[in-house]
Amino acid sequence: MLVVDRIGKTYPNGVRALDGISLNVAPGEILVVIGGSGCGKSTMLRAISGLDTPSQGKVVLDGMVITAPHEQIGIIFQEPRLVPRPQVLLLDEPFSALDAFTRADLQDHLLDLWADSKPTLIVVTHDVEEAIVLADRIMVMRPHPGRVYEEILCDLPRPRDRQSAAFDFVKRRVLAALDRSLERAVITDDGETRAAAGGGLWW
Ligand SMILES: Nc1ncnc2c1ncn2[C@@H]1O[C@H](COP(=O)(O)OP(=O)(O)OP(=O)(O)O)[C@@H](O)[C@H]1O
Ligand SMILES: [Mg+2]
Repeated sequence: MLVVDRIGKTYPNGVRALDGISLNVAPGEILVVIGGSGCGKSTMLRAISGLDTPSQGKVVLDGMVITAPHEQIGIIFQEPRLVPRPQVLLLDEPFSALDAFTRADLQDHLLDLWADSKPTLIVVTHDVEEAIVLADRIMVMRPHPGRVYEEILCDLPRPRDRQSAAFDFVKRRVLAALDRSLERAVITDDGETRAAAGGGLWW
């Protein structure tokens, strides 16, 4: 079990990037983190990886406090390289530089690798569909300072059909949570909450 216990991060220049983030991530769980630019997603991943030290709180893997990079926690930044086989794999926008078709292929490939040894995955993305293809749980963050805004369980059967009504239902929920997290929600005449800018990749 990976436990993130009330971590906060204030950078030396005074920016409060994270405030009181707590999370339990089960072995084999796929947690996807999504949220506006600057809400602390990369800061959180670096703190979990041991590459950076939180200003408050602690990260604990199987009872051991993480204070430095650890062989059982791998981290991959914007590159589609899926080589290491640690117990916990952190991916920070791994496919963001790729076209949609290549990205979809690599999402499938990542899920195949995950099914093989069932590591815990924490994936940061700005792509709502990618979040829903991958996640057991989607954590929406909000900025200034970075906090958990909402958690959305995503228990659609795998492999997930992007064209299904159930997929679309979750997508609307995530888009609405993102809009609210950025205080950009729009209530339509029929009372539905929708994306102020039409949804998509605009945050
Ligand atoms: N080394 C640093 N020194 C000072 N401030 C920083 C540093 N790294 C990040 N920040 C600030 O901390 C906040 C969180 O940044 P972070 O990169 O974690 O956000 P993010 O959610 O990953 O954003 P993005 O979606 O753009 O990747 C931002 O305000 C950012 O400007
Ligand atoms: Mg980032």
